[in-house]
Amino acid sequence: MEIVRPGLSTGNKIVDDQHQEILTLAREAMNRFDESRGGNSSEFHTLLNTLATLAARHFHTEETLLRQNACPTLKEHQEEHAAYSERILDLLMKAMAGNLDRSGLLSVMEDWTTHHLLVWDAGCVHYLQEGRHVETRDGIPLPSSPTEH
Ligand SMILES: [Fe+2]
Ligand SMILES: [Fe+2]
Repeated sequence: MEIVRPGLSTGNKIVDDQHQEILTLAREAMNRFDESRGGNSSEFHTLLNTLATLAARHFHTEETLLRQNACPTLKEHQEEHAAYSERILDLLMKAMAGNLDRSGLLSVMEDWTTHHLLVWDAGCVHYLQEGRHVETRDGIPLPSSPTEH
């Protein structure tokens, strides 16, 4: 299963660095937990915990930018992120119960690197930049304030 593709450049270094960290982790997951190698339990727990931490931080960063820049698909993007967080939480719960769901982990990584990154993040690149900070009320961008004299 091929899960890692060349990274998407958003033009925002913080977001790009976070993507790179998660892509590196996806490669590691692929190498350690494919069917032939298996991987051990402690490695699996460590990788899953790292994924949960990186994903939470990354989703927070992106959602803050999307909100500040009044991205029209913020709600749907948040729901996408929430679905990944739930899948990761589910893997963590299973792992705590002794069930190392290797294919579940690889499937999350595959969906994230092929679907979320290339469809959702790529589609929102314009709204992932620092410094636009569009003022909004109830999610609707307000007209820009008049220039002071
Ligand atoms: Fe992202
Ligand atoms: Fe995203």
